[in-house]
Order: sequence, then C-alpha cells, then structure tokens
Amino acid sequence: MSPIIDIHHVRFSVADLAKQRQFLEDFGMKVNEEDGVLYARGTDASPYIYIAEQGEPAFLGLAFAASSLQDLTEIAAIDGAVIENSSLPGGGKIVHLTDPDGLSVDVVFGITESDTLPVPSRLPLNTGSTQGRQNERVILQDASVVIKRLGHCVINVTDFRTSEAWYKERFGLLTSDEIQLDDNGTVLGAFMRCNRGEKFVDHHTLFLVHAGKLEFNHAAFEIADWDMLMRGHDLLTNRGYEARWGIGKHVLGSQVFDYWKDPAGFTLEHFTDGDLFNESWGSHKAPLEQLLKVQWGPDGAP
Ligand SMILES: [Fe+2]
Repeated sequence: MSPIIDIHHVRFSVADLAKQRQFLEDFGMKVNEEDGVLYARGTDASPYIYIAEQGEPAFLGLAFAASSLQDLTEIAAIDGAVIENSSLPGGGKIVHLTDPDGLSVDVVFGITESDTLPVPSRLPLNTGSTQGRQNERVILQDASVVIKRLGHCVINVTDFRTSEAWYKERFGLLTSDEIQLDDNGTVLGAFMRCNRGEKFVDHHTLFLVHAGKLEFNHAAFEIADWDMLMRGHDLLTNRGYEARWGIGKHVLGSQVFDYWKDPAGFTLEHFTDGDLFNESWGSHKAPLEQLLKVQWGPDGAP
C-alpha cells in the first residue's frame, strides 16, 4: 500500500496574480487570496489544490497527501526531514522534501477539511446499449465550469530512472504504463498511480518524463462530467484563453482531456471519465504512439 492517498496540490509563482485569479476562476476553481497568495480549491473538501504567489513565472513544486501520521513520519524518516506544523489554510502537518532535480515535494497530513461544494449533477447518458434516462429532459443547471479535484501532475525530469526510484521509494507508487521508445528497453517515462490495495484510483497520479532537464509539463484537474468539460471549452475559448490540445480521448488512461495555457504560460488540463485501477491491475508497457495518439480528437501532445 502507498503511504499516500493522492496528489494534494501544485504550487507556482506567477507575474500577475489578478490575471491568474481570473483564469483560475474561469477554469473552474474557487480562489481565496491571503497575504498576497492565491489558494484555489475544487468542490472536494481540500481547502486548496493550487497555490500561486507573486514572482517570476515558475513551477515551485507539488505535494502529496499522506495516508496517516504514521505514514508521514515514515516518509520523513527516509530523508531525516522534520515534520512541521503547516501555516497553509487548514493547518495540519507538512514535510518538505527535495527530489533528485531539486524540485520541492511536500507531504501533508491532517489538514482541516472544508465543506464540500455543490456539484451540478446531470441525468444519466442514454447510449446505444443503456437507456438510464426516460421521460426526463436534460436541462443543464447553469453555464459554469466546476473543478472537483487535482488529479495528476506530469513533470519532465533529468533522469527518469533516478526520479522514478526516488518517488517510488517514498510514496509507494505503482507503474500503470511504462512508455517504451524502442525494443531495447529505452524508456521515455511512466504513468504511476497510488497503491491503495483493493481501492480504485486514477490511472496516474504522477507521470515522470525522461527529458534531460527539470521542467513542469502539466497539471490536470477533474471536471464533474462530460457536458461540463465541453461547456468549459466554449467558455475558455470565448474568454480568449489559449487552447493547447484537445478536446480528445487519451489511449492510456482513457480520459477525455482539454489542455489550456494559463496566463503565466503553464499548461493546465481539464479531464473527465478517466480509468480507475486498483493494485490487481498490475503494471504494463506501452509504445510511444499510445502516449501521443488519441482514441478520438486531435493527435499529438502540445
Ligand atoms: Fe494529463
């Protein structure tokens, strides 16, 4: 079992906090500003899933949520890190780690949860094989976009095997799909998920890409449903934001995806309808074309 339950938040510095706040709200998050720092949340109970402070645009790091205080303690012990009281919203405990590329990786536990926020529901989809909606009309409640949670982060790293070992040792991640570049075992990187035993988790929580240098690739936020993702695309288009890739359906993970560039130049993704796997699904290998190709929608990562 993983000592973490999920990814918790991502952290950035951005040049224009007001512009960033507007984007985050349009993108579907609820944003609070405290002492010049933006804390954005989804409808799930975590008080923040995205943090931005003022500064030169930079990816400052990411954080995972520990399963228990015991797990947090054991993670900290690997590097002799200190467990501190967190000064971030909701308090709790926090451990600061540094990955092999020098990226800040925090682990949090015991944050006081906020109330969950309402998620507009929609009636079941009628398909060729299942008709769950009868004598009812689909009337979407409002035009807003609602993000539920942070789903995953993709990081380009200097050396995949070095970083993979570091993250797996501390966080017990399982490989879902390792991307093969050739038949000789050359690997681009891997989609990794949490190991929560029989519990089902996202196909990936972290994807590390062997890139020769550290670079933020993207972070992905789960949208409530399919209609909302489509409406979100229209809303972001109408407000003049820059689309990066989508709308499409991934091969690995099956998510319907929609990638956008935020005002600071970072790529943030809307996704819905992703695959869920548990420990028994095991680990798999896949060729590069399955990473870049889509089941439908435009080919090719941005
Ligand atoms: Fe993604």
